[in-house]
Amino acid sequence: MDRPLAETSVDSLNLRPGRAGDRAGMLRITEGVWDGTDYVPYQWQHWLDDPSGYLCVATWNDRVVGLQHVGVQADGTAWLEGIRVDEIVRGRGIGAALLQHGLGWARDAGCTVARLSTSSENASSVRIARKAGMREVASFDVLAGPPSPVSAPDLPVRLAHPGDLAALKHLLLHEWNTAESKAFYTEGWTAYRLTAERIDLLVAVHAIVVVASDGIDAVGIATASVGRPVLRLGFLNGTLEGKKSVVAWIQRQASSASIAHIRATLPRDPTTEAVLQPLGFAPGSGFAMVLLETQL
Ligand SMILES: CC(C)(COP(=O)(O)OP(=O)(O)OC[C@H]1O[C@@H](n2cnc3c(N)ncnc32)[C@H](O)[C@@H]1OP(=O)(O)O)[C@@H](O)C(=O)NCCC(=O)NCCS
Repeated sequence: MDRPLAETSVDSLNLRPGRAGDRAGMLRITEGVWDGTDYVPYQWQHWLDDPSGYLCVATWNDRVVGLQHVGVQADGTAWLEGIRVDEIVRGRGIGAALLQHGLGWARDAGCTVARLSTSSENASSVRIARKAGMREVASFDVLAGPPSPVSAPDLPVRLAHPGDLAALKHLLLHEWNTAESKAFYTEGWTAYRLTAERIDLLVAVHAIVVVASDGIDAVGIATASVGRPVLRLGFLNGTLEGKKSVVAWIQRQASSASIAHIRATLPRDPTTEAVLQPLGFAPGSGFAMVLLETQL
């Protein structure tokens, strides 16, 4: 380890907005994360350019030793993501300092709630979040499944349209909103609270799929990012048969759109697993995505 780093304490840490010149430091810190598959290098420029969020770097003697991004979701929630500390200086309080600093920034920016997600297996990340006063509000299973050209829904499935909005809002915001974990949907590792405005947006971008005859029997929410061959299933509720049809329909659409695989990140629920497994979905590595929250 560099001698100056070995001697430095968290008291002399400098926390400041990230700059274009920090890129080399970011690459050095992230190259070993998750066997080189870290997503932070792909988000870096977007975070630097994000005028409403805050990309923060931690430096010691002008050397970048940590980073974190705080995004502001459309409902004013602060979303903390991408926290990274240089491997050679972990366990000295830098992660905790970055998180506290990010929460302070979010409070000053007028956010009233902050959330983050992490793996249930990530002990350091869960530890620093709990120490910052965050509490677990939901736990999501992460499963991967295949697109399928032959997958055929038994029930009539279609994209939701504006005529469904009243019924969707009633189901998603009231009737099915029976536990905190049901108040959210996910886009991969990011969770959003379901609000009337969010449902308007999701319908407008054709991200909500319904099984509907007389009324709505089942609902799925699926999103994708430009340039990434992954479809993210982030909400599934309704009757058992309805949920099966939603997933089968999504598998067929994914196949025709040349999606490589479907990732389902859904609240832990045995009936959901019973729907997904016969359709070829398998649990990731046995970990859950934990959602933590604090009021600001
Ligand atoms: C998560 C991460 C940012 C933490 O940074 P850090 O600077 O090491 O964090 P801190 O030193 O402030 O705190 C780590 C805490 O976890 C604890 N910890 C570390 N390993 C642990 C383990 N296996 N079990 C339980 N607690 C553990 C430490 O004891 C410390 O708690 P304490 O201060 O109460 O003793 C850093 O490990 C990292 O960059 N990991 C790789 C990327 C990552 O996983 N990011 C989070 C994904 S959302």
